[in-house]
Amino acid sequence: MEQRTLGADVCVGAVGLGCAGMSGAYGRSADEQSIATFRNALDAGITFIDTADHYGMGHNETLIGQALRPADRDRAVVSVKFGALFGVDGSVRGINGRPDAIPNFLGYSLQRLGTDYVDIYRPARLDPVVPIEETVGAVAEMVQKGYVRGIGLSEVGAETIRRAHAVHPITDVQIEYSLFSRDVEDEILPTCRELGIGVTAYGVLAQGMLTGTWRPSAGDARHRGHLPRFAAGNIETNLALVERLREIATSRSATVAQLAIAWVLAQGRVHRDIVALVGASRPRSIAEAVDAAGLRLTEDDLDAIEQAVPRGAVAGERYAPALLALLDSERTGGRR
Ligand SMILES: NC(=O)c1ccc[n+]([C@@H]2O[C@H](COP(=O)([O-])OP(=O)(O)OC[C@H]3O[C@@H](n4cnc5c(N)ncnc54)[C@H](OP(=O)(O)O)[C@@H]3O)[C@@H](O)[C@H]2O)c1
Repeated sequence: MEQRTLGADVCVGAVGLGCAGMSGAYGRSADEQSIATFRNALDAGITFIDTADHYGMGHNETLIGQALRPADRDRAVVSVKFGALFGVDGSVRGINGRPDAIPNFLGYSLQRLGTDYVDIYRPARLDPVVPIEETVGAVAEMVQKGYVRGIGLSEVGAETIRRAHAVHPITDVQIEYSLFSRDVEDEILPTCRELGIGVTAYGVLAQGMLTGTWRPSAGDARHRGHLPRFAAGNIETNLALVERLREIATSRSATVAQLAIAWVLAQGRVHRDIVALVGASRPRSIAEAVDAAGLRLTEDDLDAIEQAVPRGAVAGERYAPALLALLDSERTGGRR
């Protein structure tokens, strides 16, 4: 698979694997199938593996610990998010980026993952009451001790990226970037490029909407119902955009999902600095994503896609208001 470079020297496959869906993000998942998906991904050259300590409240890290064979440990680049707080009932309780909490979070993650080190460790969100310098400084101590190899950020704006990078080189910023979410193009992506920081784009498939196979169902409403783009009134507009993409995808003998993945990869083709993180819990999703990495969109394709889904055409914000309020990326260097 084509390689991308994050930060100074972290070389990974252009498509990465997002593991949240293996721990109930979109409904029930079967561990055996998830493990097969994980191993297929590594075998196909997907090396960037994304998780968080809160995915399935630890289930996701434990699963990765089972799936990751010792022989594969060195070529996997395991990215872990920390600091998102939840109540026992799953309610959102904010962010903890305090320096004294970090060794504690990390110790539990290493134990669950069954590994001695995390390749990229990142705060899931900016803690609004802890200066980013303090959070990154504490992760940098973990780097010095050999428990962490690189430091990442998630959903932060340009100013936070600069402040963090001044404390310790940042490997990548993880942020939503897709045909439906393009605010990153204004300030965040140029800032990352100026500083030599990679971008790991998530939500490339708009949580499944940009696959062309997703359809509303009563069961799914529990999992995607809180996402504004899946709300009644917005779904119709967004699915109509997907249908416009289907025509272009068909002309390239590809699926809509592959077109959406290839579009994100095309945004990083020149600089080789963007990884398209695909959320997958089925081997079939991995097979499609791997083929998408080989789909080279022409200038004509890109123009047709731009006309089909112009920036800002999507209906609905990317998160509900309470979760949107946690995003530094939406406050500084994000939305304009
Ligand atoms: N830093 C952050 O704040 C943040 C936030 C959210 C997510 N993330 C990371 O990014 C990853 C992906 O993001 P995301 O969950 O927002 O979603 P996404 O990648 O936009 O969409 C995932 C959904 O698409 C489906 N899918 C994948 N390939 C498909 C295909 N070829 N055909 C049909 N359906 C397909 C998956 O189904 P199956 O599971 O059935 O394969 C899953 O339901 C997460 O797993 C997580 O690691 C990070």
